[in-house]
Amino acid sequence: MLTPKMEEALNEQIKWEFYSAYLYLSMAAYFEDLGLEGFAHWMKSQTAEETMHAMKFYKFVNERGGRVRLQEIPQPPIEWESPLAAMEYALNHEREVTKRINRLMDFAKEEGDHATEIFLQWFVSEQVEEEDSFGRIVNQMKLIKDSPQGLFHIDRELAGRVLDLNLLAQEA
Ligand code: FEO
Repeated sequence: MLTPKMEEALNEQIKWEFYSAYLYLSMAAYFEDLGLEGFAHWMKSQTAEETMHAMKFYKFVNERGGRVRLQEIPQPPIEWESPLAAMEYALNHEREVTKRINRLMDFAKEEGDHATEIFLQWFVSEQVEEEDSFGRIVNQMKLIKDSPQGLFHIDRELAGRVLDLNLLAQEA
């Protein structure tokens, strides 16, 4: 059974995972508008992944006898100065998510809530991957500087992202 405070903290994280999905969908729309279909595709895949993260928390709260209470999702930004600025924004957002997951982990330890601790371990590892994948794209974009050719090359690469739909289905 979750304590009321842990239930509240997990509900708060459901909101942030959905906010991440919303933010990346907003970025997909931004890239779509620029004609960068590969970036848009990558962001839409990321939106699906963030929804899966939210649903993992949803399922866990229910399994532990808690009550999911959805909260208001803030409006994400809709414009960025450049594609690089958007990706840097995304990377910083992921760093914030990592801090939130770490704080949740600290709280689970304080509460002696071992089940939540084990559940959160998956997210601790996932955040390493998230920061790495966003960081790699930012680094590539910095390397090409303002070269349109370089940007279209990265765009083609990002168009190849394949989403594991089985993974998403498991969380539904
Ligand atoms: Fe749900 Fe991108 O972290």
